Amino acid sequence: MHAGAPITPGSVTVVIPALNESGNICELLSRLADSLPERLPDCEVVFVDDSTDDTPAVAEMVGRDCPFPVTVIHRDTPAGGLGGAVVEGLRTADTEWVVVMDADLQHPPSLVPELVETGTHKGADLVVASRYTGGGSRAGLAGAYRVAVSRGATWLTKGLFPRALRGISDPMSGFFAIRRDAVRNHRGSGALRPLGHKILLELAVRSRPRAVTEVPLVFQNRYAGESKSTVREGMRFLAHLVRLRTASPVGRALVFGLIGLTGFVPNLAALAVLTSAGMHYVPAEIVANQFGVLWNFLLIELLLFRERRRHRHWADRLGRFGLLTNADLLLRIPLITLFVGRLGMGVFTATAFALVVTFVLRFAGTELLVYLP
Ligand code: GDD
Ligand code: MN
Repeated sequence: MHAGAPITPGSVTVVIPALNESGNICELLSRLADSLPERLPDCEVVFVDDSTDDTPAVAEMVGRDCPFPVTVIHRDTPAGGLGGAVVEGLRTADTEWVVVMDADLQHPPSLVPELVETGTHKGADLVVASRYTGGGSRAGLAGAYRVAVSRGATWLTKGLFPRALRGISDPMSGFFAIRRDAVRNHRGSGALRPLGHKILLELAVRSRPRAVTEVPLVFQNRYAGESKSTVREGMRFLAHLVRLRTASPVGRALVFGLIGLTGFVPNLAALAVLTSAGMHYVPAEIVANQFGVLWNFLLIELLLFRERRRHRHWADRLGRFGLLTNADLLLRIPLITLFVGRLGMGVFTATAFALVVTFVLRFAGTELLVYLP
């Protein structure tokens, strides 16, 4: 590739998820018609629509007068929300590039050619339109509350996925260009399983595009209609983070361990109540441990193995998990005696070792004996 030499960008599909945006379609297509054809001669627009209003009809009608092909895919079951819609658009595209943008004009259509040209010139797989890179801004993010939420979500997400999000200052952005062959929709943990709004995050973590670059985005105000972001969407975002973070066994072991640590709280609380009620501390320990077990069980069911619950009845799962966790306690003492007596370890090292061994056994047992997929 020669620096400075003009390189014509390849073919482009602009994928636009839409949910009840009929007031925006006309203006959006007209601005795309002003920006695209000259710089991106081989382009088309695909709406992936989950609307209950007349958005698809408007898009089809206005689309007929556009200088590029406009297709409307209407989904009857809106699986995965915004992210699911974008993946559907990615599947139907057969162009070199796919640009993803919103329908409400918060993403300026004039930036679409720049995204693809930048990717072409720099040989990047992913070009993110970022509000947090030099020259970008979040002007259209209405109110201090939404700015704070967006900032907090960005920090949290970057902290959880430091490697996958290296070079992406705005993983919450819904405006980006991606080379279609960089979307490796393979099986296992790399398979795309979008959940809600954050489709860039999903792609960055699961497909791991190699070369990433950014262009500044001045986030605009919504043109017409209302935002679809709700508290429910916020909960879906948290579930999406957990699902991504626990896609690998190592990630699951980490979350399993963290959940296990929180189990100390109900365990100690129950112990305090029982002993102050006059129970001898040995039976109290045993009973209190069951509170920790129950707490851990509820959390792993909700956060970690949510989608692997259906393979057994809940009572079966609880019984197995309870046995495993109590067996862990019984195993720990003989293990420590073995380490000290036979291997000559110090008591402290032996205990630490035994904790690690029983943790690994408990995690593997939970994966294989309670929640085998
Ligand atoms: N097909 C489909 N299905 N489209 C949807 C759905 C859905 O369930 N939910 C929302 N959309 C569409 C909207 O019609 C709009 O075109 C776009 O997705 C973004 O939705 P908004 O309601 O405008 O969301 P926002 O402005 O809060 O969020 C945007 O900004 C975020 C950054 O602050 C989106 O671009 C997010 O992706 C982005 O992360
Ligand atoms: Mn919006």
